[in-house]
Amino acid sequence: MEPTRETFGNIPPSSQHLFYALAVVAGLVFLYGLWRRFRLWRQGLGGVGGVRVLLASRMARLKPGLRRLLIDGLGQKRVRGRGAAGRMHIVLFAGFMMLLLGTTLLEIDHLAAMISPNFSFHHGTYYVVYEFTLDVFGLLFLAGCGYFLWRRTRRPASVGHRATDWWVLGMFIAIGVTGYLVEGLRIVWQRPAGAGAHCSPVGLWLAQGLFSGLDEPGARAAHFAGWWLHAGLVFGFFAAIPFTRLLHIVAGPLHLFFARPGLGQLLPVTMESVEATGRIGVSEIRHLTPRQLLSLDACMECGRCEDACPAFTTGKPLSPKKVVQDLKRLMEDVLTLPPGAPAPRALHDDTIGAETLWACTACSACVDVCPVRIDQLTLILDLRRHLVAEGGLSGTAATALRRMQSAANPWGLPADERARWTEALNA
Ligand code: HEM
Ligand code: SF4
Ligand code: SF4
Repeated sequence: MEPTRETFGNIPPSSQHLFYALAVVAGLVFLYGLWRRFRLWRQGLGGVGGVRVLLASRMARLKPGLRRLLIDGLGQKRVRGRGAAGRMHIVLFAGFMMLLLGTTLLEIDHLAAMISPNFSFHHGTYYVVYEFTLDVFGLLFLAGCGYFLWRRTRRPASVGHRATDWWVLGMFIAIGVTGYLVEGLRIVWQRPAGAGAHCSPVGLWLAQGLFSGLDEPGARAAHFAGWWLHAGLVFGFFAAIPFTRLLHIVAGPLHLFFARPGLGQLLPVTMESVEATGRIGVSEIRHLTPRQLLSLDACMECGRCEDACPAFTTGKPLSPKKVVQDLKRLMEDVLTLPPGAPAPRALHDDTIGAETLWACTACSACVDVCPVRIDQLTLILDLRRHLVAEGGLSGTAATALRRMQSAANPWGLPADERARWTEALNA
């Protein structure tokens, strides 16, 4: 018999209808969650323009954005280089993408077969390769999730920790495990032979071991229950994306697409932007650009920037990761308020102190290591520019600037003494 399996085998039509109805509900929750984030991002005013200017500028430069998506997103280029964490994310990512592709192909086959059974391609050699590939990549997905769960128990200091992280990783592992259990139970009641059975090695192993005592009705009942559990978990995963750390799955690639090409490159304050906005720098969260607000959501608190920051490492009151996270919380607290409502706290001092901003050496190390190209340096400097514009500069930096203004040099020396240092030279 040609190797194949029925797509909704053992699942009655009523359950299939419920399945699609729940898929729509999960999709709507996902879209609603994303819409709520988009409503925050689009409130960014930036220098000149807003979300429309951002879109127009990116559409005009589609190629670099797509290249970043391909290399940094799909190729995970910037995720590499952090030892086991980087490597295991690539393993997890490869497993997830293959499972996503496999499920999509299965649905396409199902829809094609509804038009005409002749259009179905889920059989024969394709089926054998498909099932084997998904079994192997499913193991990679589980290995990646297992690693990140183990890493969470070690609580690395620079990585962010939230209660939902445990749920997310637990849910992923449950999705992988129930997938294999359902496969094993299906093999018990379907009894495929030859390549049709051996192309699902994990399922076959479970069928011949854990489920070997089950008869066909028992296997069918357990398969039905397991199938629903698996489907419910998958719907839960999609619905949870915008509300958990998994938001980086969407915001990360989006930001990679919209990121500025010259990362960490200082943009001068132009007279046009000062005239258009009436300000220098950023004094409120909505003064950030839509792209900068999106970048706050792309951060998955991996801690790479904190580890690379010389100010943080030398005990200064600055962590670029914390700056991004503090701004993100302020965005959530302020930009969800009705128009005219007073902000619960200010951006400067209440959220980010001047000593934090002045601790930055502008070395760009944080920008260089961020896997999703967040520009922490520009965020810090935009806030710092406001302090300078408000005369908030103090200490040696303020003295140097005052001297630059009065004497055109940071030491405040008179012009006729400029060349005095040459007198000591034996020229
Ligand atoms: C553009 C695509 C993506 C990028 C750049 C990205 C980047 C990252 C990074 C840098 C981390 C922190 C781990 C580390 O330090 O290496 C992380 C964590 C994680 N990512 Fe992604 N990711 C992407 C897409 C995905 C996708 C598609 C999934 C699918 C499930 C995923 C699931 C996870 C999980 C489960 C964690 C672990 C969270 C934890 O520690 O609890 N990521 N991601
Ligand atoms: S640019 Fe500033 S925040 Fe970033 S690593 Fe250097 S000192 Fe730290
Ligand atoms: S800003 Fe970038 S490097 Fe820093 S924690 Fe967030 S994602 Fe990681």
